[in-house]
Amino acid sequence: MARSYASQRVSGFSETVFAKYTRLAQAAGAINLGQGFPDFDPPEFVRAALREAASGYQQYAPLPGLPVLLEALAHKLGPELSADHLQVTVGATEGLFASMQALLDPGDEVVLIEPFYDAYPADVTMAGGVPRYVPLTPLADGRWSLDLDELRAAFTPLTKAIILNTPHNPTGKVFTAAELDAVVALAEEFDAVIIADEVYEHIAFVPHLPVASRPGAWPRTITLSSVGKTFSVTGWKIGWAVGPQPLISALRLAHQWIPFAVATPLQQAAASILQQAEASGYYAELMALYRRKRDLLVAALAGSPLKPLTSEGSYFVMADSSALGLDDVALCDALPGRVGVAAIPPSAFYSEAHKPLAKHLIRLAFCKSDEALCQAGERLKGLAEAFA
Ligand SMILES: Cc1ncc(COP(=O)(O)O)c(C=O)c1O
Repeated sequence: MARSYASQRVSGFSETVFAKYTRLAQAAGAINLGQGFPDFDPPEFVRAALREAASGYQQYAPLPGLPVLLEALAHKLGPELSADHLQVTVGATEGLFASMQALLDPGDEVVLIEPFYDAYPADVTMAGGVPRYVPLTPLADGRWSLDLDELRAAFTPLTKAIILNTPHNPTGKVFTAAELDAVVALAEEFDAVIIADEVYEHIAFVPHLPVASRPGAWPRTITLSSVGKTFSVTGWKIGWAVGPQPLISALRLAHQWIPFAVATPLQQAAASILQQAEASGYYAELMALYRRKRDLLVAALAGSPLKPLTSEGSYFVMADSSALGLDDVALCDALPGRVGVAAIPPSAFYSEAHKPLAKHLIRLAFCKSDEALCQAGERLKGLAEAFA
């Protein structure tokens, strides 16, 4: 038998669900509503900023980040913020990894809300931590609710942090003021840190409330975001962490040994697009674009057996597939070949014990061209026959 070189830390991991379903989509020539990346070009001002950065400085950036990007972030997030409160990261992905490396000792617990972004449990376990899961519940009106008693039950004296993603991938939920305040109150009671993953901050169809702006939250919150979703450049991997000095300095101790420095030309380009976005009304246009795409996909599903739940933000919608009777993995495995559409089975975003909650759900991404969304809708109308 071939020797495995994988450490105990990584040997339980398998290929990510995105790699698998993108491969199935490509093999079948299917419309890929699976992985969440735009299939359209970023705006011209974004591409121009990258071209311009190609003739700028090309050497290592300072540890906190390029000064021009820190300035643009302070302008966006709060003029009182300095390099003590900001750390540029390799996308929010590295911000999550560095946060867990910085905060956790072996056995520390981290509360994760299910369905989760699939990096969270891996980040927790690679840092020696233990995830504690709290599932969201779909309501009859299509929205998702957080059971505050279950949330409280997940906190223990070992709780070191909670990761909260709003707007939420994959449900599209935007957490309410009451839910956020309950999270902050529990974090205060148990002296836990809040990691607020807000990468979809500008894709919210109801008001998005930044976690750190809730009363009492700032001193214990690290907020992560990035340019990937907001500017349709998921390949740039430029993100940031913002928070109080003690939390950012801890994160920086881990970050300095992960990438050491973050790509200079991309930081330069990110600074330029952040400076331009606010003044040009870009964020409002982006929100309107995605609201229209969400409505297009939801309307296109009307004649299909998939019943969309409510997406209040992000560029995902979950749909109820119970009319088809198949479990989510069987459905998503067969979908590209049988109807020419790829989607993601949400059980990938649940812990082992809670996977049955995703049995009749499917995640569809609407960060795709209008033609792709309409064509996918047409194809999905034939779903019942394809699986009869
Ligand atoms: C909830 C959430 N967090 C973080 C990320 C990763 O962000 P980035 O590309 O900036 O690393 C994603 C990307 O899909 C996401 O959906």
